[in-house]
Amino acid sequence: MNMKKTEPHILVIFGASGDLTKRKLIPAIYNLHHQKLLGHPFAILGVSRTQMSDEEFREKMLEFLPENEQNNDFVSHLHYESIQTSEQDEYKKLKERLDKLKKQLNAPGNIVFYLSTPPNMYPVIPMHLASVGLNSQEDGFKRLIVEKPFGTNLESAKSLNHDLLEYFNEEQLYRIDHYLGKETVQNLLVLRFSNSLWEPLWNHKYIDNVQITSSESLGVEKRGGYYDHSGALRDMVQNHLMQLLGLVAMEPPTVVNADSIRNEMLKVFQSIRPLTPETVSANVVRGQYTSSRIKGIEVPGYREEEGVNKQSRTETFVAMKLQIDNWRWSGTPFFIRTGKKMPTRVTEIVINFRPAPHLLFNSGEEQKSQPNQLVIRIQPDEGILMKMGLKVPGAGFNVQPVNMNFRYAELSEAYLPTAYERLLLDCIHGDATLYSRGDNVEKAWELMQPILNEWENNPAAPLHGYPAGSWGPAEADKLISGHLNGWRYPCKNLSNDGEYCEL
Ligand code: BG6
Repeated sequence: MNMKKTEPHILVIFGASGDLTKRKLIPAIYNLHHQKLLGHPFAILGVSRTQMSDEEFREKMLEFLPENEQNNDFVSHLHYESIQTSEQDEYKKLKERLDKLKKQLNAPGNIVFYLSTPPNMYPVIPMHLASVGLNSQEDGFKRLIVEKPFGTNLESAKSLNHDLLEYFNEEQLYRIDHYLGKETVQNLLVLRFSNSLWEPLWNHKYIDNVQITSSESLGVEKRGGYYDHSGALRDMVQNHLMQLLGLVAMEPPTVVNADSIRNEMLKVFQSIRPLTPETVSANVVRGQYTSSRIKGIEVPGYREEEGVNKQSRTETFVAMKLQIDNWRWSGTPFFIRTGKKMPTRVTEIVINFRPAPHLLFNSGEEQKSQPNQLVIRIQPDEGILMKMGLKVPGAGFNVQPVNMNFRYAELSEAYLPTAYERLLLDCIHGDATLYSRGDNVEKAWELMQPILNEWENNPAAPLHGYPAGSWGPAEADKLISGHLNGWRYPCKNLSNDGEYCEL
């Protein structure tokens, strides 16, 4: 992991009584502390409206940590302050508390603010922080991590960027997308740019199509209230899957740093052919899961979930076809697919190479249907699978498809940090490479906007039902028909040679 020296700092978490704090943030900070990556001194200040003492906050957080004798040492770094976050006056109290902590720790004023609150507070908290000078970098760095969702459409994303930039500079802003913190997502960059093997093939001449799938077997669980106003396009595509597309499609950056990588990402987004009201329906399929029986158990449909409108037209599935109009990708479509209540949880990128130009073996037809395929598995069982045709031993020249499977877990015994560990530490170190830049976020929203408009304004825009536990509506297959291999349908259990079992 990142071996840079960590400067003394305070991490202030707004929304400290919320779910993200206890499930993701505190465990991530705990792991960083255990690996001695947080430096010394450091302190966490939890902030929210709930009244709580330091002791009560510590007790609460302990429940989410693994049993360990050093837990007491860790929680001694946790502090808590209750303020009405919407009231400007309350920030004087926050500033006093931070000044006190600084003195106690004998630390400079390096502070990371983490906004893990409801999104309506994203523009408010930075404004109030600025009112008491907590955006000033005179006594040390001040950085602001903003959780998703970053806006709900192009207009709100622009307005949020505008509001944040009133009080913090772009260099101080860290828009988090936890997909970029995943180890295998970063490995995509290394796979592409530290091997000479791929680069000559990584273009429209050799690649027929690219597929990016992120399926989840879970439904909306307890998040129906949020999800019903969001839907799969906003929840998964605009952010996580567009980032994956950017990394697969980008040109080699000149160096690995925040600007260079994010510039290349932006160029990809700028090259994506914008959809129009006329082209949305032919290129985007939306679906919503309906009730079904899975392994003999009755499973409710989306509209029966807690917090969901009974007539909801929110999509729990999206498949789309995008074209990138540049020299590298012209004519090679990128397919994106994501959904809830699908047969398994998997995120993978599939590169379907074109068939060999002249087929010498077999009857030709059989081999033609098995061209090379590279599967980059983001999760679970992170790894890379290469499918190629090799000779069946014995007489003649019969070709059979074989798998070369690399499992990340076999690379080393090394500990794989969680996305939040990686991203938090990067922010503390001032490295924004794996965070989204304002212009990229806006561009990704701009690409989604015609779809959102069409779904909102055209009552005839279809929403296809699909039974819970299936791979989505049949229309998604039509979208890809005519392209090499069709969708890949992975299922959960890996057979011995590393392939997912086919359903
Ligand atoms: C979140 C979405 O951003 O990502 C969730 O809000 C989704 O709906 C989750 O389940 C998926 O993340 P992961 O890391 O489990 O693939």
